[in-house]
Amino acid sequence: MDCCVVTALWCLIPLYLLIRLALFIFSDADFTLLWASLFGHAPENKLKGQVVWVTGASSGIGEELAYQLAKCGSRLILSARREDELSRVKNHCLECSDLQTDDILVLPLDLLERSSHEEKAKAVIQHFGHIDVLINNGGRSQRSLATETSIDVCEALMELNFLGTVSITKQVLAHMMQQGRGSIVTVSSVTGIMGVPLASSYAASKHALQGYFNSLRIELSDRPNIFISMVCPGPVKSQIVQHVFTEELNKPPPNPGDQDYKMPASRCARLMLIGMVNGVNEMWISQQPFLLLCYLWQYTPTFGWFVMNTLGIRRIQNFKAGLDADSSYFTKPKTS
Ligand SMILES: NC(=O)c1ccc[n+]([C@@H]2O[C@H](COP(=O)([O-])OP(=O)(O)OC[C@H]3O[C@@H](n4cnc5c(N)ncnc54)[C@H](OP(=O)(O)O)[C@@H]3O)[C@@H](O)[C@H]2O)c1
Repeated sequence: MDCCVVTALWCLIPLYLLIRLALFIFSDADFTLLWASLFGHAPENKLKGQVVWVTGASSGIGEELAYQLAKCGSRLILSARREDELSRVKNHCLECSDLQTDDILVLPLDLLERSSHEEKAKAVIQHFGHIDVLINNGGRSQRSLATETSIDVCEALMELNFLGTVSITKQVLAHMMQQGRGSIVTVSSVTGIMGVPLASSYAASKHALQGYFNSLRIELSDRPNIFISMVCPGPVKSQIVQHVFTEELNKPPPNPGDQDYKMPASRCARLMLIGMVNGVNEMWISQQPFLLLCYLWQYTPTFGWFVMNTLGIRRIQNFKAGLDADSSYFTKPKTS
């Protein structure tokens, strides 16, 4: 081969690596999900007519999922506790899509009332005949130091985020096993991958979800038509901070502060649907520096700990200064 061609080829390798690095630095999803978003199926081509049950659909990520699924032509079950908010979301879904009112079932559900979950799943099957996808999205977070948090708050977070999710999943999974297919997508968090200060029990509940569903996926490996996927978002704009648990069950949440720096819920929902239709088992969806932290945590744990300790101290300082915990990592919080 001509020597100039060989030299040109060698120059292409660093160029390729530079492009990959730039893609990574400016990306908001892990490599697999990024690949699916560039070269995979579009949700619009895969989700039309699918029956999708979204929990936590009354605000934030769940609300956005509802709108995007409606635009894709999916038939929807919208669940959460606030029925009036679910009706608002349903009306907006009808306005922004070709769906008819019977295509969207508003199904109030409290994840904590586990004894009601069998009856709720039956109501869905009675209405639509079957369920194609369950998106376990409902949940609440935490803003309090572990040493100051009562055990009741730890219990409430495990009951809601872990046991409530597992309970509804068991009802739907039984149905999917019978029909021989289905997808269960569960919203965990980057705190399901690594520890985060001020969110010890929340992180524990998300780690529990990761452990449960990752084990379940292996148990179901002889059923390739049942798909289990985990979603690990970083900070996303939603109502999550307004509804966090604090030190005590009845203590109100802190001032939510400025949330503008966070990823829009619409982007998070879009990436989730891309991952879902392209069979991505685990999706990391986050802006930097949180996405980079996930990689450090996974591949260089000791260095990951070092960085996390540094950022974690700032998170606690922000919290104590009355700011949103994740704001201004790189500028000192004002404490006037
Ligand atoms: N936003 C983030 O930064 C972020 C990051 C990582 C992971 N996540 C996860 O994303 C999911 C959605 O949160 P979000 O950010 O969209 O917050 P959000 O706006 O507060 O939405 C939470 C949803 O969960 C529902 N919910 C709360 N308690 C419930 C209960 N007992 N039974 C049934 N539904 C309940 C809420 O509805 P009702 O109050 O009407 O019941 C609401 O629809 C959560 O699992 C959260 O842990 C969020």
